[in-house]
Amino acid sequence: MTFDRSIKIAPSILAADFANFGAECAAVEAQGADWIHVDVMDGHFVPNITFGPATCAAIRPHIKGVMDVHLMIAPVDSYIEAFADAGADVLTAHVEAGPHIHRTLQAIRGAGMKAGVALNPGTPASAVAEVMDMVDLICVMTVNPGFGGQKFIDMSAKITALRQMIGDRPVHIEIDGGVDPTTAPLVAKAGADVLVAGSAVFRGGSVSDPAPYGENIRAIREAANGVWT
Ligand code: DX5
Ligand code: ZN
Repeated sequence: MTFDRSIKIAPSILAADFANFGAECAAVEAQGADWIHVDVMDGHFVPNITFGPATCAAIRPHIKGVMDVHLMIAPVDSYIEAFADAGADVLTAHVEAGPHIHRTLQAIRGAGMKAGVALNPGTPASAVAEVMDMVDLICVMTVNPGFGGQKFIDMSAKITALRQMIGDRPVHIEIDGGVDPTTAPLVAKAGADVLVAGSAVFRGGSVSDPAPYGENIRAIREAANGVWT
């Protein structure tokens, strides 16, 4: 993975056909997705359950680019090796998931992955001040995690603060929740570069009719880049 701050669109497979993840990942990549965002939920840290490392491993061969795994689980540490074995490129843990985020981030990098830290809407930017040199990505949640299709919560001030805290470090700012062509410009302007989008990418398309995926991805990217079509 090379680092740059260009806008990257990361479709969340939470909005894909759960019976057909491999083909869905291939379809959105063919339609212009930069990363694939994979939401792991445990029914404990968040009030919903998705899947774990075995499913990530099954999906992996169908993804050519970056597999971006977002853990909404607690505890995290005992599962890090399993997600490394599953082929995650980026593994993101929530700062709220336990008392030892420092240890968790060390372990993620130690297992050979890029380390991400996620912040819920109620958590301030200052919560990650002491781990800025230990992360490759900061994920700013713009919904309360657990479900796709929720209304965007404006976190622009937090994104701006994090962008200043990052300075010259090669750290991505990822936005997760309610991203669409209307909200993408707000977060891009504040300093985000990785835009996760579930419903706004997968709506209107399917594996057998993937063109809408491409139109949806293009619309978000152009909106974020300030090109209105
Ligand atoms: C929410 C997940 C998101 C979700 C985004 O808990 O972390 O990745 O899939 O879905 P949309 O884009 O529909 O808000
Ligand atoms: Zn997510």
